[in-house]
Formats: sequence, structure tokens, C-alpha cells
Amino acid sequence: MVALTGWISIICVFMKILVIGEGGREHALAWKLSKDSCRPQVFCAPGNAGTAQVATNLAIKSDDIPNLLTWAKTNRPDLTVVGPEAPLCAGISDIFSSEGFRVFGPSKAAAQMEGSKVFSKDVMTVGGIPTATSRSFTLVEEALKYVRQQEFPLVIKAEGLAAGKGVVICTTVAEAEAAVRDMMVKKIFGWAGERILVEEFLEGEEASILALIDGKTVVMLASSQDHKRIFDDDKGPNTGGMGAYSPAPVVTDDLWPVIRKEVFERTLIELGKRGITYKGVLYAGLMIGKKGIKVLEFNCRFGDPETQAILPRIDGDLVPAFQACVDGTLSEKLIKWRHEACVCVVMASGGYPGSYNKGKAIDGVSDAEALGNVTVFHAGTKLDNGKVVTSGGRVLGVTALGSGLQAAVSNVYKAIEKIKFDKAHYRKDIAARALRKDTK
Ligand code: AMP
Ligand code: GLY
Repeated sequence: MVALTGWISIICVFMKILVIGEGGREHALAWKLSKDSCRPQVFCAPGNAGTAQVATNLAIKSDDIPNLLTWAKTNRPDLTVVGPEAPLCAGISDIFSSEGFRVFGPSKAAAQMEGSKVFSKDVMTVGGIPTATSRSFTLVEEALKYVRQQEFPLVIKAEGLAAGKGVVICTTVAEAEAAVRDMMVKKIFGWAGERILVEEFLEGEEASILALIDGKTVVMLASSQDHKRIFDDDKGPNTGGMGAYSPAPVVTDDLWPVIRKEVFERTLIELGKRGITYKGVLYAGLMIGKKGIKVLEFNCRFGDPETQAILPRIDGDLVPAFQACVDGTLSEKLIKWRHEACVCVVMASGGYPGSYNKGKAIDGVSDAEALGNVTVFHAGTKLDNGKVVTSGGRVLGVTALGSGLQAAVSNVYKAIEKIKFDKAHYRKDIAARALRKDTK
């Protein structure tokens, strides 16, 4: 037995994990995986100044599949974890798997759940998954005629990937006509808007449920809620996400079995009928309204910044669960949860989501982390002569655990006070809505 344990740790010491991506989500993934009890060697392509603290950064972009494969053939990673949707939708899992590499992330066919809104809407409609009613159009005149007959608000969505900007909520016919023309005539999202969906507007509160899936077994992760608008009280333009918290109390106990059955299990059944196996993480963006849950969107990957608020709540290892997803041996017991709540507040460059300056020195990160229960995930940072500087719109995801949401919020804002960079902007109300609910 002693000899066996010794062997296992030797095998683990040599385990290599490649994390693909460069944002806060990938820092959180690399951070969590690097702490695994088997102490793997983690590589991140391309990573950022934060991933450099827990992994070896590689100068290969996340969508450069040929060079990622060349690196893999030379360095033989035991597991590849794909962060962003673009390489998944381009088929990186299929390519790596066909070369004998183990990849955590869905195939190109399965990634259509995010890559094509028309595909995922069809899966939902045919598979009986609750969602907004909608119609798709490829002809601009037909789309214009249809929107003129609808009630408002109305939601217009580009079919393909549009960097999170492809959804327009329209309150008037004029806005809807403009959105249709922008997507189908001006092609502001390129081919992604050649086909559009016109969708019923849903009311309620949003929450995200992510699930690990090994092809047949679903393990739902803790609930979370993102904050998409740039300013407090959900004002201003949409961003990639200004903060997240977990758990989200809007996902009440009675909803869990409904979400498992009506969202995830029905999705697997419907994909199965189409000959598609889903392996990896499936993200369901839900609207929780008075009449129950409806799916707003699926993503074929971890959410950003939801991941930063979820992973610190996992007690123990994550590598075995990812491997089980690849091997088809997933079970609930592979993920254990801490009781604490977690809050992530994004510190952004002044001007984001519009234009902003880069190269600003960042100070105070280690003071923030010294408070305890705090981890600062880097999103848009890089090393400049050994100093960490800003290099993106979303710069840091300051993340804190606490005995409950209130404690986590208080810990995270204490940490933020320690961190400084020129024109830093962050929301002061992350998790405020959940706290109001808790005190009702
Ligand atoms: P999606 O990329 O489809 O998740 O849409 C982005 C955001 O648009 C969602 O997080 C919602 O805030 C909003 N949204 C999308 N579809 C609807 C809908 N049918 N009703 C109301 N809001 C929506
Ligand atoms: N936080 C939203 C997303 O990752 O798509």
C-alpha cells in the first residue's frame, strides 16, 4: 500500500496540465489546478502576469491551434483544459483528441451550444428545455416585417459568436429595425449576424448554473450571478462582467431538481438524438421569473467572472473531476464544497468598456492577499520589466471568501482598498441584490 501511494505521487509529480486562455477565468483555473494534491506542472497559453505566478506561460495565443498542437506533441500534456469558446468552436478538442491528447472541453459539434444560437435554440425547442419563444431569419426584409408586428421589449440576437455583444434588447420598433440592419446589412458582427434570432423578452432575475458533464453524468456546480453592466445599479453599457458571487440565493432549493432535469438532462438527451456527446462544462444562463426558469443562453465553457467566484468554494482537488469528465467516470463525490460564500469584484481600466489606456503600474496586490481569504485573479495584466502593469479592460478579479455573502462582500471591499492603479474603476454593489433578498 505504501509503495502504491508512493508510485501515485511520483506519477502525479510528472503530470502536466495545459490551460488555454489568458483571462481571469484562466488564472482561476490555473490557480486551482496548480494547488491540486498531485502538484501538477501547469502551463498556460498565453496566460497573463497572474498565471505566471502559478504556471509557466507559453507565448502561444489561445486560438492558434496549430502551434498549440505542436507544443503538445513536444511536451505531451496529460490534460488540456480549454478556457475560451473560440478554440472550442473551432474544434480544438476534436483535433487534440484525434492526436491522443486528453482534453477537458466539448467537441466542435457540442460547442455549437454556444457557437450557434440557432442550433442551441433548436435543441431547446425540440428537446423541451424551457426558453423564450423565438424565430430565426436569414432575409432582412422578412425580419423587418416580423419585428414591426411584435410587442416590446423585444430581443434580437446574432446567430454566431460576437464577443458577448450580439444581443440587443429593443424597446421600440425603430431600435429593432436598427439592430436588424446593423447585424444583417451592415454586418457589424461579420458572418455571426447573417442569421438572427428575434426573441420574446423575459423578465426576472438572472443566475448561472454550470455543470460538469462526462457524456452522461451531470454534476452541477454551485450557483452564481454575474454583473454585466459597467456601473452600479445595473446602469451603463454591457461589459464582459464586472463581478460575480456564489451562491446566488435566487436559485432556491426547489429549483435544483428542475434545472437538473429540464435543462441539463434534456439537453443531453436531445444532443444524443443528434449523435452528439457533451463532455466538459456546460454553462446555462437562466432567467428566474415568477413562472419558473427559462434558459437565456448556453456557453460551452466556464463563465468569466463566475469561475473566479466558484472555484475558491471547491474544497480539495479539481483534477480528478476534470479527468473523470474526459474518461466518462464523473460522479458527485468528486466535487466537495466549502460552506463559505465567495465574491469577485472586477477592477477595470478607466474608460472600459470603451477605450482605455494600458501599461499602468498596479500596486497593493500582496497587501490585499495578506488580509487572508483573498485571492487576486489577474485578467488584463502583463509583466513589464518585472513589474505588473495593466494590459486590458478588465484588469483584476479581486476575490474573497467569507462565512456568508455579507462577510465575503465586506472582505472583498477591504481588499480592494489596498489595490491601486491609475483610473481604476469597480462596482461598489456586487452581490447587493442578493444581500437585500437575504434580509427580507
Ligand atoms: P445571451 O448572450 O443570449 O446570454 O444574452 C446576453 C444577455 O442579454 C443576457 O444575460 C440577458 O441579460 C439578456 N437577454 C438575452 N436574452 C434575453 C431574453 N429573451 N429576455 C431578456 N433578456 C435577455
Ligand atoms: N459571465 C458571462 C460569460 O462568461 O459568458
